[in-house]
Amino acid sequence: MKQGLFISLEGPDGCGKSTQITFMEQYLKQEGYEVVVTREPGGTDISEQIRKVILDKDNMAMGDTTELLLYAAARAQLVSEFIKPAVDAGKVVICDRFVDSSAVYQGIARGLGIDMVYAVNSYALQGMMPKRTFLLDLPAQEGIKRKRGQHELDRMELQKAEFHEKVAQGYRTLAAMHKERIVIIDAMKPADEIAAIIREELQDLL
Ligand code: TMP
Repeated sequence: MKQGLFISLEGPDGCGKSTQITFMEQYLKQEGYEVVVTREPGGTDISEQIRKVILDKDNMAMGDTTELLLYAAARAQLVSEFIKPAVDAGKVVICDRFVDSSAVYQGIARGLGIDMVYAVNSYALQGMMPKRTFLLDLPAQEGIKRKRGQHELDRMELQKAEFHEKVAQGYRTLAAMHKERIVIIDAMKPADEIAAIIREELQDLL
């Protein structure tokens, strides 16, 4: 049976993940792989409902621990309902964000600690971790500027500049801790150049 593959994309808000996911999906399908795309928080009916609660800007009073647990709850449902079955069936799963987002946003930027994030998430992951993670690295304020031009900002995007700065820096720290898995790409490069870098990495992987 064909072996499944789990890949994730990460980066600060506005780093251009969606554009790259479209390129990746097209490329992998052309190469004959069965590809499914999903996102976090979300990707299943239940997880999308949790997403609404997390990102609702009327929920500014949400505590950091509640936030951590809601992301983990959305993830638990996505892993058991979608990611694990798809990988077990031999598909390529591309996920827009995964537990690295919790490590950076909740663990580093909120200050809850990476160990705490992994301890909580160990219940959700069922041993699933991406084989390769593409990190689109971008100066924090550039990402928020891009988002402002696209839509009304959500609860996370509305966090202070200092928070977004910690996120951008936090991703670099995490990438240095997991050099074998996380590939850092400069997200200020043109989209087609980024796509070419990712394609080369995928060729090595497959
Ligand atoms: P998105 O806009 O890329 O869909 O992500 C939603 C927001 O949630 C984004 O600001 C990043 C944040 N986030 C976390 O803080 N922790 C997590 O575990 C995940 C998956 C996302």
